[in-house]
Amino acid sequence: MKAFKTLALGAGLSGLLLSAAYAEGLAGKVIGFSQIGSESGWRAAETSVTKSVAAELGINLKFADAQQKQENQIKAIRGFIAQGVDAILVAPVVATGWDEVLTEAKDANIPVVLLDRGIEGPEDLYLTSVASDQVKEGRVAGEWLVNAVGDKQCNVVELQGTVGSSPAINRKQGFEEALAGKANLTITRSQTGDFTRSKGKEVMEGFIKAEDGGKNICAVYAHNDDMAVGAIQAIKDAGLKPGSDILVVSIDAVPDIFAAMVAGEANATVELTPNMAGPAFAALDAFFDGGTLPEKFIITESKLYTPADDPQGEYDRRKGLGY
Ligand code: AHR
Repeated sequence: MKAFKTLALGAGLSGLLLSAAYAEGLAGKVIGFSQIGSESGWRAAETSVTKSVAAELGINLKFADAQQKQENQIKAIRGFIAQGVDAILVAPVVATGWDEVLTEAKDANIPVVLLDRGIEGPEDLYLTSVASDQVKEGRVAGEWLVNAVGDKQCNVVELQGTVGSSPAINRKQGFEEALAGKANLTITRSQTGDFTRSKGKEVMEGFIKAEDGGKNICAVYAHNDDMAVGAIQAIKDAGLKPGSDILVVSIDAVPDIFAAMVAGEANATVELTPNMAGPAFAALDAFFDGGTLPEKFIITESKLYTPADDPQGEYDRRKGLGY
């Protein structure tokens, strides 16, 4: 009979992360992880959770931080192939331009798992993709706003994620779908804030200046919480109240957005779990163990949180996860 291990995560993680049963097949495997960088609190948590889960499973994880550059990711993947790793995890910074390097991994018989972002390319270049339904995330955020404003006239400004990344493309699409046909809701300005807090603040400052000191803005939709937190600061600096003068809706559910909710400065967020590695390692485990092919797309949950959902408790539950 096969031995299975139930992942016992540390106290800080256990409340939030699902435990999973693994065959013992991953211990000693060498797995390369090409991470995008550390642009957001969510990204930091994903890195931290991946390292913790790998350590629990006895995986020798080779970590490479690409500092937001696709060329660095391609270099790292080529390095993993040259080392003959057993598998590669990659969080692709942008959606296009992966065919060549992933074909090299395929030719070397190294399974690749995409984490948290998708690519435009043949599906046979990766074993599975573990990510949220990013169109749905945008739609959930948009539906929240539609309900929150009712019939009121509302000009919305949008802070987009990294240009060309799958979450920026899909979260924009989903949000626009939710607002379609609502004549009272218009996206009046939309610009990238590159998923960072500092850029989110800078771009929001520009929006406020261009919109009569913010008086013509009813809501900001940010593709991640970090940009929302930057926008909140810009709104406060302009003498307005985030959360009431300008509504704030975003995606990720990081501790700082719950702190902002506690302070009455943020209105809604859509959760993106930082535990992409758990399902990814489970898929690799089954693949190594008996050649089981996982679902091509493993979709994580997209739950809406508002101030009615115990933001202080949510903050406390998340703070040990490395955000
Ligand atoms: O790909 C997931 C996105 O990347 C997160 O929402 C954002 O915070 C991160 O930078």
